Amino acid sequence: MQTAAQATNSPHTFSRDTDRYAKCVAASKRVRWEIDRDVIRGRDFNFDKRFLPDGLSRLGELSFLNADERRFLSQIQGRTYANTFGLVERFIGPKIAEVSRDHWLGDQAAFEALVRFTDEELKHQELFRRLDAMATAGMPAGYVYGPQPNDVAGFVLGKSTWSVLALTCHIEIFVLQHYHQSIDPDHNLDPLWKDVFLFHAREEAQHAILDELEWRREDEKLTSEERDRAVDDLIALVAAVDGILVAQSRSDAQYFANANARTLSVEQLAQVEAGLLRAYRWQYIVSGVQDARFQKALGSLITPAQFERIGAALAPILAGQNVH
Ligand SMILES: [Fe+2]
Ligand SMILES: [Fe+2]
Repeated sequence: MQTAAQATNSPHTFSRDTDRYAKCVAASKRVRWEIDRDVIRGRDFNFDKRFLPDGLSRLGELSFLNADERRFLSQIQGRTYANTFGLVERFIGPKIAEVSRDHWLGDQAAFEALVRFTDEELKHQELFRRLDAMATAGMPAGYVYGPQPNDVAGFVLGKSTWSVLALTCHIEIFVLQHYHQSIDPDHNLDPLWKDVFLFHAREEAQHAILDELEWRREDEKLTSEERDRAVDDLIALVAAVDGILVAQSRSDAQYFANANARTLSVEQLAQVEAGLLRAYRWQYIVSGVQDARFQKALGSLITPAQFERIGAALAPILAGQNVH
C-alpha cells in the first residue's frame, strides 16, 4: 500500500537530477535581491571611475589613448556590456519558460527552479534598462545600442532548442568567468557598476547549472541527425552574435570619436573600432568557448567531427585575438 507521500509524489514527480534542481531553488531563494533595495541603493555612477576592467576591455592594445580616453572607452564598453546582457536575456527567459513545460506535471523542484530562473531574467532586463537610463543621463549624448531585443530574440528562438540552450549555457558560464577573473579582483572600478555584476553573477551561478541540466535533457531527445543540424544552428547563432558585435563596435567607436575631447585621425578611429571588435569578440564569444567548463559540457554531447566543425567556424573570429 502506498503512503500518502508516495501517492502525492509518484515516481514521475522526481527526475534523476531532482537534488540539483532543489539546490538551485534553495540558492536562488538565499541570494535573491531587489534592484533598488540591494543593488542601486540610491547611488549613481561615478564617471571618474572605469566600468569594464582592463582584462575585458583590452584597452592596453590601444597605446595612443590617454588615461581619460581609456576611462571613457571603458565606460562605453561597460554600457554596451550591460545592454548586451539585457539583449540576450530577452530570448533566454522565454526559452527557459518553454522548456519548463516538460516539468509542469513532473519534477516540481525542476519546474520551480526554471520559473525562478525566468523571473530573475525579467528582473535583470529591468536592471539593465535602469542602468542605461542612468548612463544616458551622465554621459555625452549620441550613444546608440543598435540591436533590437525582440528582433534578435525572434531570430534566436527560431533555431533549435538544443542550439539556443548551448548558446545560453555559453553566455551564463562566461558571465561567471568574467566576474570572478576580471571584475571582482579590480578595485578601481565604479562601485555601482561592479555591484551590478556581483549581484548578477550570484543569480547566474544557478542559471549556468540549470542550463547544463536542460541542455543535456534536450540532447537526449535528439537523433544524431537532429543533433548534427543543431550544431549547424549553433554555428549560425554564433555568426549572428558576431554580426551584432561588428555593428556595435563600429557604433561605439563612432560615438567615442564624436564625444571625445580630442579629434582622432582616421587611422586612430579605425584602430579604436578594430580594438573594440577584438574586445567584444573576446567578451562575448572567445572567453566563453575557451572556458574549460563550457568545453567539457559541449564536448560531452557532440562528436569530435562536430567539435572540429565548430572550431573551423570560429577560426576567423579567433584569428584576430592575441594570446590570452
Ligand atoms: Fe541575467
Ligand atoms: Fe541568467
